[in-house]
Amino acid sequence: MKVLVLGSGAREHAMCWSLANSPLITKLICAPGNPGIKEEAECIDLNINNNEDIISLALKEEIDLVIPGPEIPLVNGIINELNKVNIKAFGPSKEASKLEGSKKFTKEICKAANIPTANYESFTNQDHAINYIKNINTPIVIKADGLAAGKGVIIAKNKDEAILAIENLFKGIFGEAGKTVLIEEYLEGIEASYFALCDGKNAIPLTNAQDHKRVGDGDTGPNTGGMGAFSPTPNLSEKDNEHILNNIIKPTLAVMHERGTPFQGILYAGLMLTNEGPKLIEYNVRFGDPECQVILSRIKSNLFEAILAAVDHTLNNFHIRFYDEVSLTVVMATEGYPGKYKNGSIIKGISEANNIKGIKVFHAGTKIDSDQNLVSNGGRVLSVTANAESMNKARILAYSAIKNIKWDEGFYRKDIGEN
Ligand code: AMP
Ligand code: GLY
Repeated sequence: MKVLVLGSGAREHAMCWSLANSPLITKLICAPGNPGIKEEAECIDLNINNNEDIISLALKEEIDLVIPGPEIPLVNGIINELNKVNIKAFGPSKEASKLEGSKKFTKEICKAANIPTANYESFTNQDHAINYIKNINTPIVIKADGLAAGKGVIIAKNKDEAILAIENLFKGIFGEAGKTVLIEEYLEGIEASYFALCDGKNAIPLTNAQDHKRVGDGDTGPNTGGMGAFSPTPNLSEKDNEHILNNIIKPTLAVMHERGTPFQGILYAGLMLTNEGPKLIEYNVRFGDPECQVILSRIKSNLFEAILAAVDHTLNNFHIRFYDEVSLTVVMATEGYPGKYKNGSIIKGISEANNIKGIKVFHAGTKIDSDQNLVSNGGRVLSVTANAESMNKARILAYSAIKNIKWDEGFYRKDIGEN
């Protein structure tokens, strides 16, 4: 089969690296890809936020199956468009992608499926929203309804911060995404992510992970896309995993199916582990980045066969297997990220790191410059991933591999896997 993966991050590098092993794939293309992905797949330049461009590439290359990495093509309805031209696709329809595209929609599904989540109210009018917070306790969480590149959530410590956040959202700092605002109860606890592979009716576990969202050691500084992750998390027992699958994931699938918008693809639950048990913070409709790098490093089964079973609605017969090892990834980013940073600094030593047993370096923002040097080309640049028999060993291995990477303008957190 000819397969097209969409994206250019370390997540998509991990996906292509996993898929490249499959004897069922005769040709693997990644669009637009990156220099790391080029070792696994043919890379073709493409604007993946444009459905028409994706369709014409898929038709031209006679693609049998498309696998989008990030959420934007999914929320844009690329799966619907591909199905219209009889191309198979792995991922949720536009309607089912609302589980990530609209936080209000997800809250409605939670209510219908009786899924534990934070209490909330939603508002389309600024005065009503501000009036509402006058009588409630802080901290309180203010959220834009739609996609806001991970920046649409404000934890307000007091009422002034809450009012400012509400005003900013209604001022349109996130455009349409902030036209509806959710005001949500603040949940206390440890966060964890749970992943399931879904075929519309059935879900099988893809295990859990924990990521480190803040830029600085000790979880300080602004939020990022993710500075590191590990899988599995010691904070979830086997019983907890089963509880999440049976009480959060499966009821969601059942309600989505009942409503005529079945969910096929990766369902990623962002959870808060509270005193009252796990509560859903949000859904994403794709793999997390960097969580994908650690989850796929642990899958023993053939990833492509699992994906085909989801697309063909036969997951009830599929048994997925995992290595017992712990996988941990440390993200290397460009100085300045998540604020302003400069592209184009030279990176060396990746093959030396990759030569270490148990290490795989996934590329994100890299490119080859006109002098054939590998240079930085984004905020998050590399994801150095280690597999070992314990968290401690995986952490030591990842950090010793990083020492091989010579990149003056890069930085990374020193405490991945320590909390
Ligand atoms: P989200 O984009 O909804 O995942 O939110 C981003 C981050 O905000 C989460 O990973 C949490 O750290 C935090 N967050 C979101 N909602 C809540 C909540 N109700 N209580 C506490 N923290 C929250
Ligand atoms: N690591 C968080 C995300 O992919 O959304």
